[in-house]
Amino acid sequence: MRKLTYFIACSIDGFIGDPGGDGSMMIPFVDEEFFEFLKTEYPETLPTHGRRALGIDDLPNQKYDTVVQGRASYDLALQIDVTSPYAHLREYVASRTLKESPDPNVEIVADDLVGKVRALKAEDGDFGVYLCGGSQIAGELLDEIDELVVKTYPIVLGTGMPMFGSGFAISEFTLGEVRTFKNGAVVRTYRRKR
Ligand SMILES: NC(=O)c1ccc[n+]([C@@H]2O[C@H](COP(=O)([O-])OP(=O)(O)OC[C@H]3O[C@@H](n4cnc5c(N)ncnc54)[C@H](OP(=O)(O)O)[C@@H]3O)[C@@H](O)[C@H]2O)c1
Repeated sequence: MRKLTYFIACSIDGFIGDPGGDGSMMIPFVDEEFFEFLKTEYPETLPTHGRRALGIDDLPNQKYDTVVQGRASYDLALQIDVTSPYAHLREYVASRTLKESPDPNVEIVADDLVGKVRALKAEDGDFGVYLCGGSQIAGELLDEIDELVVKTYPIVLGTGMPMFGSGFAISEFTLGEVRTFKNGAVVRTYRRKR
């Protein structure tokens, strides 16, 4: 069974962006030390166009071989004419409105998102599935999430887009690795208590 990991950046108060989802206020925390960490341990979570610009597009995947994202998150790539933001992974985009995939590497999931994710998790393989977000599909897929990797930056937003667009329900996780960075960022890994 492969794991579904929600790998997400957020504020101290748990918001993944401003009320519209914009998380650009977190970018300054991706400094040299933090970027080195991402490059070494999670290179596949860096978008292809960014990797290419930095000359690191040949870094091998470390943990994931598949990415799942919602159409609103995928739209951010489409807006800059990138149709395959994670070309080094198999890409699935949840959407009921995108009738045709804009890229051969991107499969649109219009029906039974949970079933699709369960099928991906049931595949053989050592690499897991990276849930990129955003909030809405993370909320819909919450019960399928096996692991959380939460990158918390030292800012408070007061309000914003929640990590999970779902109703109140308690899900228990156990704390795994914790990494701290000089700039105050903390990356915590949690595994679901089953
Ligand atoms: N801080 C971070 O690390 C981080 C990471 C990722 C994203 N984000 C932010 O998150 C924001 C987007 O999040 P969001 O919650 O607005 O949207 P989202 O979860 O990215 O996408 C929502 C869309 O996914 C589709 N969808 C949802 N459930 C579906 C289902 N069951 N079956 C088929 N399609 C389904 C729908 O697309 P259609 O309308 O096409 O049907 C829906 O409008 C962006 O602003 C982005 O910046 C932040």
